[in-house]
Amino acid sequence: MENNFDLIVIGGGPGGYVCAIRAAQLGLKVACVESRGTLGGTCLNVGCIPSKSLLNLSDNYHKAKKDFNQQGIEISDIKLNIDKMMSNKEKSVQVLTKGVEFLFKKNKVTYLKGKGVLFSKNDVVVYNDDKKNSYQAKNIVIATGSEPTSLNGVTIDEKNIISSTGALSLLEVPKNLVVIGGGYIGLEMGSVWSRLGSKVTVLEYLDFITPGMDREISKEFQKILTKQGIEFKLNNKVNSVTNNKDKVLVNYTSNLTNKEESIECDKVLVSVGRKPYTEGLNLTKVGVKRDKKGGIVVNNQLQTSVSNIYAIGDVIKGPMLAHKAEEEGIAVAETLAGQAGHVNYNIIPGVIYTSPEVATVGQTEEQLKSENINYKVGKFPFLANSRAKVNNETDGFVKILADATTDKILGAHIIGPHCGDMIAEMALAMEFGASAEDIARTCHAHPTHTEAVKEAALAVDKRAIHF
Ligand code: NAI
Repeated sequence: MENNFDLIVIGGGPGGYVCAIRAAQLGLKVACVESRGTLGGTCLNVGCIPSKSLLNLSDNYHKAKKDFNQQGIEISDIKLNIDKMMSNKEKSVQVLTKGVEFLFKKNKVTYLKGKGVLFSKNDVVVYNDDKKNSYQAKNIVIATGSEPTSLNGVTIDEKNIISSTGALSLLEVPKNLVVIGGGYIGLEMGSVWSRLGSKVTVLEYLDFITPGMDREISKEFQKILTKQGIEFKLNNKVNSVTNNKDKVLVNYTSNLTNKEESIECDKVLVSVGRKPYTEGLNLTKVGVKRDKKGGIVVNNQLQTSVSNIYAIGDVIKGPMLAHKAEEEGIAVAETLAGQAGHVNYNIIPGVIYTSPEVATVGQTEEQLKSENINYKVGKFPFLANSRAKVNNETDGFVKILADATTDKILGAHIIGPHCGDMIAEMALAMEFGASAEDIARTCHAHPTHTEAVKEAALAVDKRAIHF
């Protein structure tokens, strides 16, 4: 039966497409519905991937302009061609989204183009322009992702008041960019435009940036970004954002003094979080329950209140990260194939791809304190790491938190060069239940940035060699 599947996945982002491929590998007959026109979801189309392209290119531009001459690479007349930069970004996105389509063909996943709507617990209708097709499935996975939230009364027009999507495709460098929200998106996109020449001001409600991150790292991060030219106005609540001819007026109140102030700028990036996207799925009719914030409620097996309908990724609780969604997609596919699908939510790394990068996994010092867990801290600065030193990338440090009695690693937090890649070592170590001593006794190649991880592990026992 052509329209009958073991599994229909609604949403072709990193959660959905990975789930579909894994289920097909395990022998299930699978279809994946996607309405965007290309696979890969927010991450590949308007999120992680295009932002990393612009982060990389803007970093190259900035280094060429600011650092190269002092380092003996004398170049003059460096020009920014933003059209080329954007088309380079578009090409990377196209190659990667087409790549997912190829993987679907390779694994015999049926790609259903259009908007998927639940008709009953086993029926999905796919609308594509004026066409409508019905499909049946034993099981359904909802992986429809998230969308940007805004502030009360603030309309994102993607012209002067933009979300991350608009910030990824500006046609010229804004003179002044105000970023509302000092989180992942605000700081990555703020960095891109600051390096390309904008005066960037971050307005943050809290008195620190990157909530949820180890506070010592967050403080260092703010210090480094300030040194790079980004201005932070913390402890401020934005009241209104209004278009005023070609400019935008942002009005805010200080949480400390109650004083009202305003800034005029060319563009405003609203990056105050994202919310689950479930519009038009017909969840209420089918009986799929949602929580107060609109997220789909799931049990430990990622099953919704309707037992054959599962949900993964940004539509459910937990960090809105592509790799978390992927792990959940694999867990559901394996559960459906009779295996023991499982996600270890304690060991989900998070990376901010600024320069330097910030990477974290496991518990923060604040969490350990609040849970009354006795811990030891080992820290090592990149200033004392030979590779970082020769590369002139000495900002930041590695911080490892280990149990005071057992020495088991409880968390690792790094700000520094290439730490987005280095955090994998710590995630792996934690998955194996490693102690700081295990890392300290592992031979790390010299000269590499990873030696800073080894030294931080040695520092847990107060025996770092190079500091
Ligand atoms: P976020 O949750 O990371 O940060 C939002 C910030 O806005 C917070 O610091 C919050 O205190 C602040 N805020 C909220 N209301 C405010 C107000 N009225 N005035 C001033 N500040 C206010 O959200 P963001 O940056 O929008 O990112 C959304 C999601 O996308 C996150 O969950 C993140 O995990 C994900 N993401 C991940 C990336 C990565 O892994 N590298 C990159 C980009 C996004």
